[in-house]
Amino acid sequence: MGSSDDDKFVGESNAMKKVFSVISKLAKVSTPVLIRGESGTGKELVAKAIHYNGPRKDEKFVTINCGAIPENLIESELFGHEKGAFTGATERKLGKFQYASGGTLFLDEIGDISQAMQVKLLRVLQEKQFTPIGSNRVVNVDVRIIAASHKPFEEMIKEGTFREDLFYRLNVLPVYLPPLRERKSDLPHLIGYYIDYFNSVHNLEIKKLNEEATKLLENYDWPGNIRELRNVIEHCFIMESSEVISLDSFPSNITHKAQPSESDDPIKEESQIDFKGIQNSVLDQTDSSEDEKSDREYNFTYGEMNEGKIKLDFQVTKDRFEKRIYYSGFSGE
Ligand SMILES: Nc1ncnc2c1ncn2[C@@H]1O[C@H](COP(=O)(O)OP(=O)(O)OP(=O)(O)O)[C@@H](O)[C@H]1O
Ligand SMILES: [Mg+2]
Repeated sequence: MGSSDDDKFVGESNAMKKVFSVISKLAKVSTPVLIRGESGTGKELVAKAIHYNGPRKDEKFVTINCGAIPENLIESELFGHEKGAFTGATERKLGKFQYASGGTLFLDEIGDISQAMQVKLLRVLQEKQFTPIGSNRVVNVDVRIIAASHKPFEEMIKEGTFREDLFYRLNVLPVYLPPLRERKSDLPHLIGYYIDYFNSVHNLEIKKLNEEATKLLENYDWPGNIRELRNVIEHCFIMESSEVISLDSFPSNITHKAQPSESDDPIKEESQIDFKGIQNSVLDQTDSSEDEKSDREYNFTYGEMNEGKIKLDFQVTKDRFEKRIYYSGFSGE
């Protein structure tokens, strides 16, 4: 993973402080992790943060998108194959498990794998060994598994489409990322962050959003979460010709959809999938003394990428923080 501004973590809400606290605990151990949350909430960012803050940080972080690989290829992608194992296997190929040896394998969209693959994954998780396709040799592996998905596993287990034993194996320490609409207190920080980011990417000097534009972003419910926010702000940067972003620069789908929010306490709004149980179990992982500590430590939440590694150092200088608030058009807390 190269160093990039894209790998910075922004978040001030209590929900995100809990996530940061769980990340720092998970980074120290090698247990499997299941990261859950809607699309665009930052699951991959969390997976990288766990890897790059732990003892495996100098080893590989290998990603496989289980949802994007056809069923007949995924086994070979994960476990590799011998030459001649099947039609088209003209060379011996190492699988991602071997490639990630000593490091972390990020199984993205794990909810999309077939039942047959679920059995094979369970075996690797339990026995730490697997057999490449066409081989009679068992390979031992030391790979940390981090999985992610937006899927409703509880329902899938009831329907019989996801194995309960695999779910519990993966879900030792769950991480739940709440949707942006349930943590709108993070919005000003994210907006400020992306204003700085796109100013440097596009060599511009945009200072803030005007009041109307700010209100629009606050009232929108962000179905695509932080990814969508990022795209909207970049759209505005390209369209805006002054130093202050106005409504005219917004994509029309946002201006049409954003309605004044009925609730002024968006944290209480429910997400479509019932993540409550998971959320509670994640919150339970943080004891009250840790809470106090994290409140202090994460007062100004901001992660940094440093030569390819995320440093979970959430303390930025007060100046920097105030500058962001100013840039994003918010006058304070
Ligand atoms: N807390 C955050 N601070 C800053 N940027 C963030 C944060 N969370 C997510 N992002 C950014 O939002 C975008 C989407 O994040 P990411 O790819 O990790 O989401 P995801 O949950 O894996 O989405 P999907 O389910 O669609 O794969 C990325 O550009 C990422 O850098
Ligand atoms: Mg992702």
